[in-house]
Amino acid sequence: MLDEKGFDLWADGYDESVGLSDEDGTYPFAGYKQILNEIYNRVLTGKCNAVLDIGFGTGTLTQRLYEQGCDIWGQDFSAKMIRLAKAKMPGAHFCQGDFSEGLAEELCHNRYDAIVATYSLHHLSDEQKVRLIENLLPLLRDGGWLYIGDVAFGTRTELDECKASVGDEWDDEEIYFVAEEFQKFFPEMKYEKLSFCAGLLSFRK
Ligand SMILES: C[S@@+](CC[C@H](N)C(=O)[O-])C[C@H]1O[C@@H](n2cnc3c(N)ncnc32)[C@H](O)[C@@H]1O
Repeated sequence: MLDEKGFDLWADGYDESVGLSDEDGTYPFAGYKQILNEIYNRVLTGKCNAVLDIGFGTGTLTQRLYEQGCDIWGQDFSAKMIRLAKAKMPGAHFCQGDFSEGLAEELCHNRYDAIVATYSLHHLSDEQKVRLIENLLPLLRDGGWLYIGDVAFGTRTELDECKASVGDEWDDEEIYFVAEEFQKFFPEMKYEKLSFCAGLLSFRK
């Protein structure tokens, strides 16, 4: 599992490697651009004021929202990712911190119209994911949405089929969302499959 130093090292080549895997339609990033576009469009159809991005990376999604006038907040533990994102969004409010240990205090004092997390939460165990989602939902304004886009599957069987089909490429250290298992904790959660290995989970306040 990559730690903050691993992400620091990946930061410069991140956009290119993700783009190549998405264009080739290969695991793990097949569907990446579609996920980001879906979230971008949905955030902008709502009241786009304050947006919190959990694990914003190089800021691929939030930069577009920032350019549309959204007030961008975020947390990431990689100093290098924060530097790259800050260069694109000088007016954004970014906190450095490990979200497996909770949210930065500054972020908890604000309320958001949308919270987004793309390809960042598969670094958490399922218990940690549930706890983080439970902590994020109260930070939404009424009618706000939490969107999680990631490597994800509707059922455990779909995950196993994908794992078998990609063979040695499968990353055993990453823990992917299985929607039917999360729906037990969040019955209102919506799941949409966007590629053979990507899905969008939506939660409304
Ligand atoms: C694969 S990148 C995704 C970046 C971006 N959201 C995207 O869609 O391209 C994962 C990001 O989450 C951050 N991250 C991973 N685990 C984290 C943790 N426990 N706490 C804070 N940031 C974390 C990494 O530093 C990295 O920037």
